[in-house]
Amino acid sequence: MKNKIEELKKKKNAAKLGGGQKRIDSQHNKGKLTARERIELLVDEGSFEEIDIFVKHRSYDFGLEKQHYPGDGVVTGFAKIDNRPIALFSQDFTVFGGSLSESHAEKICKIMDMAMKIGIPVFGLNDSGGARIQEGVVSLGGYADIFLRNTLASGVIPQISAVLGPCAGGAVYSPAITDFIFMAKKTSHMFVTGPNVVRTVTHEDVTFEDLGGAETHSTKSGVSHFAFDSEIEVFTNMRKLMSYIPLNWKDRPIEYDFDFTKNYTSPNLNEIIPDNPNKPYDMHDIIKLLVDDQEFFEVHSAYAENIIVGFCRIGGLSVGIVANQPKVLAGVLDINASNKAARFIRFCDSFNIPLLVLEDVPGFLPGTEQEWNGIIKNGAKLLFAFCEATVPKVTVITRKAYGGAYDVMNSKHIRGDFNFAWPSAEIAVMGPKGAVEIIFKKEISESDDPEKKLDQKLSEYIEKFANPYIAAERGYVDDVIEPSETRNRLINTFQLLKTKVDKNPGKKHCNIPL
Ligand code: HXC
Repeated sequence: MKNKIEELKKKKNAAKLGGGQKRIDSQHNKGKLTARERIELLVDEGSFEEIDIFVKHRSYDFGLEKQHYPGDGVVTGFAKIDNRPIALFSQDFTVFGGSLSESHAEKICKIMDMAMKIGIPVFGLNDSGGARIQEGVVSLGGYADIFLRNTLASGVIPQISAVLGPCAGGAVYSPAITDFIFMAKKTSHMFVTGPNVVRTVTHEDVTFEDLGGAETHSTKSGVSHFAFDSEIEVFTNMRKLMSYIPLNWKDRPIEYDFDFTKNYTSPNLNEIIPDNPNKPYDMHDIIKLLVDDQEFFEVHSAYAENIIVGFCRIGGLSVGIVANQPKVLAGVLDINASNKAARFIRFCDSFNIPLLVLEDVPGFLPGTEQEWNGIIKNGAKLLFAFCEATVPKVTVITRKAYGGAYDVMNSKHIRGDFNFAWPSAEIAVMGPKGAVEIIFKKEISESDDPEKKLDQKLSEYIEKFANPYIAAERGYVDDVIEPSETRNRLINTFQLLKTKVDKNPGKKHCNIPL
């Protein structure tokens, strides 16, 4: 037995070297970690239990029959994050560039199938040159097997991806279906085709970084939700994300201990909204004062910054925040903001995470650029996502709630459970100036002193509509509250809503406007 155990140890140690020391050194020289080093940083110490370490590829073409690396370019298994179970795979770039063979795909599918049966999240650490070229269609089939599982698992278990190398082709479409993508700046790249192909087809000269680096995907395309300076930061933040989410769609996020005997009044909240309604302020300042420990885990922080989304805790409960940002484009809703928020809302709704909406929105962004690119269908996604969500939904209107945006941002009419307004709220079809210029156009132009008339009509309109009380008279807002009391109200409201049950009609699936 002793010899056999020695042999087992030898085999495993050899397998752990992946493509060999030279390639490991090359990986390090590029500023990247190896597949196994990454796992160590992501999961609780000593918790990783590997499977399929001895799996080999079954290819006989292009000399591959002479090149075998046990594990075949991907490390798979199960582990824990903060003592909660996860499944994971980590692609090994030192073995055929982490490219996906038939066996490599089977290993990933195996842990995904098991994760679905157990009901635990899948973490995918991607570092792959895509389909293994030597295996041809068998490799393409392997990708399709993964895509199908990603799709079927969507909304059942959380799927979280890190892209940590030059990921091309199939290696980007699997992460794209998952819930969140993390990237490391300078060393991660995602593209359907690399710069060389781009040059041939479109004659554009573009670098790896500009085409598909972390900066590009976290600011321009929105493909990546997070971009961090180093891989270590990526793993720290993947762990943090896990602390806000449940294991599966039937589970609930962990509820943290909370002292309900304390008073959480924050007088500073009374000072944030400027007297001039056209002056911007930073919605982050409000968020900080509403959440536990002032901790806000922002998603997509550098993309479509006119809307803010992210996770926090309120009264110990995990809550997803969707907030207009008056500091950027006056908080207007445009195509990118609508897509960003809709996807976040649907994640929260899939996984029993209540939603808090902080609203200060002048409306949808007008103009040909937006119209021709489909603000109608894209704005409709946001509307659809809020309408469809059945998790506890709470809105606080801090200032403007104009036009369609009033309806869209989790209004009472689309099943907002508790809708509060601050006394600074202005709830109307449009802003005072636009409204007065339309409805009193004739009266103003025919007046002896049009400017005076405009001012007079503006004052009348502001007096009548630029406040929350007409909405409150109708019950469209449940209460007008002093800003300083908001945190107390939210803590109580989310506790009250813990047992809320709501359902959508039975159907095969919805048809969200894509
Ligand atoms: C087999 C591959 C490979 C691949 C890389 N390697 N990609 N082997 N299949 N797809 C191997 C290399 O031969 C090399 O082996 C090692 O991995 C490292 O590759 P390098 O090129 O030396 O590394 P680097 O310079 O860092 O460049 C990385 C790279 C480049 C950008 C990923 O290798 C590359 O462009 N690869 C091809 C990418 C691609 O077009 N893939 C197919 C996409 S189509 P040695 O032995 O020297 O270490 C696809 C279809 C699915 O995925 C579509 C579904 C929708």
